[in-house]
Amino acid sequence: MRWIAAFGALACLAACNTTPPTPDGAQLYDENCAVCHGRFAQGDGVLARDLPVPPTDLTRLAAKNGGVFPAEQVIAQIFGYPGRYQSNPMPEFGAVLAGRPVPYRLETGETVDTPAAIAAIVDHLKRVQTE
Ligand code: HEC
Repeated sequence: MRWIAAFGALACLAACNTTPPTPDGAQLYDENCAVCHGRFAQGDGVLARDLPVPPTDLTRLAAKNGGVFPAEQVIAQIFGYPGRYQSNPMPEFGAVLAGRPVPYRLETGETVDTPAAIAAIVDHLKRVQTE
Protein backbone atom coordinates (compact mmCIF):
# COMPACT_ATOMS: atom_id res chain seq x y z
CA MET A 1 0.00 0.00 0.00
CA ARG A 2 2.75 2.39 0.92
CA TRP A 3 4.30 1.92 -2.51
CA ILE A 4 1.03 2.60 -4.23
CA ALA A 5 0.59 5.80 -2.24
CA ALA A 6 4.16 6.85 -3.04
CA PHE A 7 3.65 6.11 -6.71
CA GLY A 8 0.40 8.07 -6.67
CA ALA A 9 2.16 11.04 -5.12
CA LEU A 10 4.92 10.93 -7.73
CA ALA A 11 2.47 10.63 -10.62
CA CYS A 12 0.61 13.58 -9.17
CA LEU A 13 3.79 15.64 -8.98
CA ALA A 14 4.10 15.19 -12.72
CA ALA A 15 0.46 15.56 -13.73
CA CYS A 16 -1.42 17.42 -11.00
CA ASN A 17 0.41 20.68 -11.43
CA THR A 18 -2.25 22.20 -13.63
CA THR A 19 -1.22 25.85 -13.30
CA PRO A 20 -0.16 26.76 -16.83
CA PRO A 21 3.36 28.19 -17.05
CA THR A 22 3.63 31.95 -17.45
CA PRO A 23 4.52 32.66 -21.07
CA ASP A 24 7.97 34.14 -21.70
CA GLY A 25 7.31 37.56 -23.26
CA ALA A 26 10.86 38.07 -24.53
CA GLN A 27 10.82 34.72 -26.30
CA LEU A 28 7.36 35.33 -27.77
CA TYR A 29 8.59 38.71 -28.96
CA ASP A 30 11.61 37.09 -30.66
CA GLU A 31 9.39 34.52 -32.34
CA ASN A 32 6.58 36.80 -33.52
CA CYS A 33 7.74 40.40 -33.71
CA ALA A 34 11.52 40.67 -34.10
CA VAL A 35 11.42 39.89 -37.83
CA CYS A 36 9.86 43.32 -38.45
CA HIS A 37 10.46 45.36 -35.28
CA GLY A 38 14.01 44.12 -34.72
CA ARG A 39 15.70 42.08 -32.02
CA PHE A 40 15.87 45.10 -29.67
CA ALA A 41 12.47 46.45 -30.80
CA GLN A 42 13.98 49.52 -32.49
CA GLY A 43 12.08 49.04 -35.76
CA ASP A 44 14.98 47.48 -37.66
CA GLY A 45 14.00 43.86 -38.27
CA VAL A 46 15.16 41.97 -41.34
CA LEU A 47 11.83 42.56 -43.12
CA ALA A 48 11.64 46.25 -42.20
CA ARG A 49 13.00 47.57 -45.49
CA ASP A 50 10.56 45.50 -47.56
CA LEU A 51 7.45 46.87 -45.88
CA PRO A 52 5.43 49.78 -47.31
CA VAL A 53 5.28 51.35 -43.83
CA PRO A 54 8.29 51.22 -41.50
CA PRO A 55 7.73 49.13 -38.38
CA THR A 56 7.50 51.32 -35.30
CA ASP A 57 10.43 51.67 -32.89
CA LEU A 58 8.73 49.96 -29.96
CA THR A 59 11.23 51.22 -27.38
CA ARG A 60 9.86 54.78 -27.74
CA LEU A 61 6.16 54.12 -27.15
CA ALA A 62 6.16 55.62 -23.66
CA ALA A 63 8.38 58.54 -24.68
CA LYS A 64 5.98 59.39 -27.52
CA ASN A 65 3.06 59.21 -25.11
CA GLY A 66 4.20 61.71 -22.50
CA GLY A 67 6.18 59.09 -20.55
CA VAL A 68 3.22 56.74 -20.08
CA PHE A 69 3.42 53.32 -21.69
CA PRO A 70 0.19 53.03 -23.74
CA ALA A 71 -0.59 49.43 -22.80
CA GLU A 72 -4.17 49.41 -24.03
CA GLN A 73 -3.19 50.69 -27.45
CA VAL A 74 -0.37 48.15 -27.65
CA ILE A 75 -2.70 45.29 -26.72
CA ALA A 76 -5.18 46.44 -29.38
CA GLN A 77 -2.47 46.69 -32.00
CA ILE A 78 -1.11 43.20 -31.33
CA PHE A 79 -4.55 41.68 -31.11
CA GLY A 80 -5.70 43.44 -34.28
CA TYR A 81 -9.27 44.09 -33.24
CA PRO A 82 -11.26 42.99 -36.28
CA GLY A 83 -11.42 45.57 -38.99
CA ARG A 84 -9.56 48.21 -37.10
CA TYR A 85 -6.10 47.75 -38.56
CA GLN A 86 -6.83 46.09 -41.85
CA SER A 87 -4.90 48.61 -43.91
CA ASN A 88 -1.82 48.08 -41.74
CA PRO A 89 0.97 45.74 -42.93
CA MET A 90 1.33 44.39 -39.42
CA PRO A 91 -0.40 41.01 -39.07
CA GLU A 92 -3.11 40.45 -36.47
CA PHE A 93 -1.97 38.15 -33.69
CA GLY A 94 -5.28 37.68 -31.90
CA ALA A 95 -5.70 34.17 -33.28
CA VAL A 96 -2.05 33.10 -33.07
CA LEU A 97 -1.59 34.29 -29.50
CA ALA A 98 -5.08 33.44 -28.26
CA GLY A 99 -5.53 31.41 -25.12
CA ARG A 100 -5.96 31.70 -21.40
CA PRO A 101 -6.97 35.27 -20.55
CA VAL A 102 -5.35 37.03 -17.61
CA PRO A 103 -6.35 40.36 -16.09
CA TYR A 104 -3.92 43.00 -17.38
CA ARG A 105 -3.65 46.19 -15.37
CA LEU A 106 -3.64 49.29 -17.56
CA GLU A 107 -1.97 52.62 -16.88
CA THR A 108 -5.39 53.94 -15.82
CA GLY A 109 -5.66 51.30 -13.08
CA GLU A 110 -8.43 49.45 -14.94
CA THR A 111 -7.91 45.82 -15.83
CA VAL A 112 -8.67 44.17 -19.17
CA ASP A 113 -8.76 40.45 -19.85
CA THR A 114 -5.94 39.74 -22.27
CA PRO A 115 -4.58 36.42 -23.56
CA ALA A 116 -1.61 35.51 -21.35
CA ALA A 117 0.79 35.42 -24.31
CA ILE A 118 -0.12 38.96 -25.39
CA ALA A 119 0.09 40.23 -21.79
CA ALA A 120 3.60 38.73 -21.56
CA ILE A 121 4.71 40.48 -24.77
CA VAL A 122 3.26 43.79 -23.57
CA ASP A 123 5.16 43.44 -20.27
CA HIS A 124 8.32 42.69 -22.22
CA LEU A 125 7.84 45.83 -24.33
CA LYS A 126 7.18 47.87 -21.21
CA ARG A 127 10.56 46.77 -19.85
CA VAL A 128 12.46 47.85 -22.99
CA GLN A 129 11.17 51.45 -23.06
CA THR A 130 13.81 54.16 -23.29
CA GLU A 131 13.57 57.83 -22.34
C1 HEC B 1 5.15 41.86 -40.82
C2 HEC B 1 5.80 42.82 -39.98
C3 HEC B 1 5.35 43.00 -38.56
C4 HEC B 1 5.28 42.06 -37.56
C5 HEC B 1 5.61 40.59 -37.65
C6 HEC B 1 4.86 42.77 -36.37
N1 HEC B 1 4.66 44.09 -36.63
FE1 HEC B 1 4.11 45.52 -35.32
N2 HEC B 1 4.04 46.89 -36.80
C7 HEC B 1 4.46 46.68 -38.10
C8 HEC B 1 4.34 47.92 -38.86
C9 HEC B 1 4.69 48.09 -40.33
C10 HEC B 1 3.83 48.88 -37.96
C11 HEC B 1 3.53 50.36 -38.25
C12 HEC B 1 2.12 50.50 -38.70
C13 HEC B 1 1.74 51.93 -38.99
O1 HEC B 1 2.51 52.84 -38.72
O2 HEC B 1 0.62 52.11 -39.48
C14 HEC B 1 3.66 48.20 -36.68
C15 HEC B 1 3.15 48.82 -35.55
C16 HEC B 1 3.15 48.23 -34.28
C17 HEC B 1 2.71 48.91 -33.08
C18 HEC B 1 2.08 50.28 -33.00
C19 HEC B 1 2.99 51.29 -32.46
C20 HEC B 1 2.31 52.63 -32.32
O3 HEC B 1 2.86 53.61 -32.82
O4 HEC B 1 1.22 52.69 -31.74
C21 HEC B 1 2.90 48.03 -32.05
C22 HEC B 1 2.60 48.25 -30.58
C23 HEC B 1 3.44 46.81 -32.63
N3 HEC B 1 3.56 46.98 -33.98
C24 HEC B 1 3.76 45.69 -31.90
C25 HEC B 1 4.07 44.47 -32.48
C26 HEC B 1 4.24 43.25 -31.72
C27 HEC B 1 4.19 43.15 -30.22
C28 HEC B 1 4.45 42.26 -32.63
C29 HEC B 1 4.58 40.77 -32.35
C30 HEC B 1 3.52 40.13 -31.63
C31 HEC B 1 4.46 42.86 -33.95
N4 HEC B 1 4.22 44.20 -33.82
C32 HEC B 1 4.70 42.17 -35.13
C33 HEC B 1 4.90 45.49 -38.63
C34 HEC B 1 4.95 44.28 -37.95
